[in-house]
Amino acid sequence: MKRLTLLSAACLAFVSTTVAQDETKPKPQEPTIAAIQGTPEIDGKVDEAWKKAPRVNVNKAVEALLAVDEDEMATATVRVLWDKEHLYTLWQVKDSNLSADASDSWAQDSVEFFLDENQKRTTYYESDDAQYRVNYKGELSGQGSGFDESNLKAAARKTKMGYVIEMAIKIQGDQLTAGRKLGVELQVNDDPGSGERGAVAKWNHTDDDSWQDTSNFGTLVLQPAAE
Ligand code: BGC
Ligand code: CA
Ligand code: CA
Repeated sequence: MKRLTLLSAACLAFVSTTVAQDETKPKPQEPTIAAIQGTPEIDGKVDEAWKKAPRVNVNKAVEALLAVDEDEMATATVRVLWDKEHLYTLWQVKDSNLSADASDSWAQDSVEFFLDENQKRTTYYESDDAQYRVNYKGELSGQGSGFDESNLKAAARKTKMGYVIEMAIKIQGDQLTAGRKLGVELQVNDDPGSGERGAVAKWNHTDDDSWQDTSNFGTLVLQPAAE
């Protein structure tokens, strides 16, 4: 009996230290992009306004859709700026074979910006949620309850490495201010020359669900203009 009590005491002690350790464990960092205040000209050129904005990589493969060697997949570095009424994205895309032959716009060489303005992280699209797409030729498309093509302006330019896309998205809700957070995801679609999509690269969540589910978007944090 005594042995049993001792044993249960030891077990209890073990359980309580494990719980205590769990409580002190730091929470995993939420994936975040810092956007800097600034207004670029939408002309496909990297003007001054962009220079101080940090870059993020869109280079995680959606494994389930990968039909090419992962090293050959198109990837991008992206910067984000904001002003009162817009979000601006600059995409420098590495893609060695440019094609817009596929009939589905999402299967053409293109970039996609997913936005959850109120950051409610719903598993469906609300009226503030939208998917904005621009292909390497600068052609616009998009989907989602909140998508309105008149809110999207873009410029495209071919480069030695692939192409550049500059996008301006007009916000639908309240004017933007420093400190505000919004839900976002970034995606690059790649046709390797087959006339079909052979790879999809993403910034954060590597399932092909961002076009209908905002719950796994990362966070865009609006920061004041750089000094
Ligand atoms: C997805 C496609 C989807 C399309 C719908 C893309 O981001 O990768 O699978 O059909 O969005 O707009
Ligand atoms: Ca939303
Ligand atoms: Ca391509």
